[in-house]
Amino acid sequence: MNILIISGSPRNNASSLNVARYIEKQLINSTDAHVDVFDLNTCSLEFWSDQADVDDAAKKLINKADGYVFVVPEWHGMVPPAFKNLFHYFNGLFSHKPAYIIGVSSGTGGRYPITELRSTTYKNSFINYIPVSTVLDKVDETINKNGEYIAESDHMAQRIDDGLQYLLEYTQALFSVRESNIFNEKRFKNGM
Ligand SMILES: Cc1cc2nc3c(=O)[nH]c(=O)nc-3n(C[C@H](O)[C@H](O)[C@H](O)COP(=O)(O)O)c2cc1C
Repeated sequence: MNILIISGSPRNNASSLNVARYIEKQLINSTDAHVDVFDLNTCSLEFWSDQADVDDAAKKLINKADGYVFVVPEWHGMVPPAFKNLFHYFNGLFSHKPAYIIGVSSGTGGRYPITELRSTTYKNSFINYIPVSTVLDKVDETINKNGEYIAESDHMAQRIDDGLQYLLEYTQALFSVRESNIFNEKRFKNGM
């Protein structure tokens, strides 16, 4: 099983990447799944147009994954455009695979990325967001630059562990779902 964690911030020294590193360690310690981290800061994808070059390394990672963790910061109450850009390039690669969303904020935000992804990215991609998602606010007081959990309360650690366990179960379950005949049906390629 391959899990891909995407750090959805294109910024240098992003808190989202610290969270991605923490999650990577949690997964490596709790499962034998293969885990990769994809950092949008080091990815050279220009904004999609029909002349844009596809980044083959990014394509390979997204295609290989059986399940995803999206660590997405709240920027101006939105998902960063660089993250949404992934869906313009790689829509079909997410098809019928599960994803666990973690909305990140240095303040008290973090909810908007969750609702935005759930409402705007599923239709043509057929991505399968699991019902559990997590708001990680005051992120820098919770996870430090080394990807270590530093909050006094283990409340958020428990929430994230639960989310990851759900993701692993859905990832396992959706293998057989994707083998079903209905997934060869191409009549309604762009959803409803
Ligand atoms: C352009 C920009 C806009 C932001 N807008 C918001 C916001 O609307 N709500 C919020 O809670 N935090 C906002 N923040 C702060 C982020 O929560 C903070 O940068 C946090 O560390 C997550 O982003 P990062 O992964 O890029 O570090 C914003 C940050 C940037 C760079």
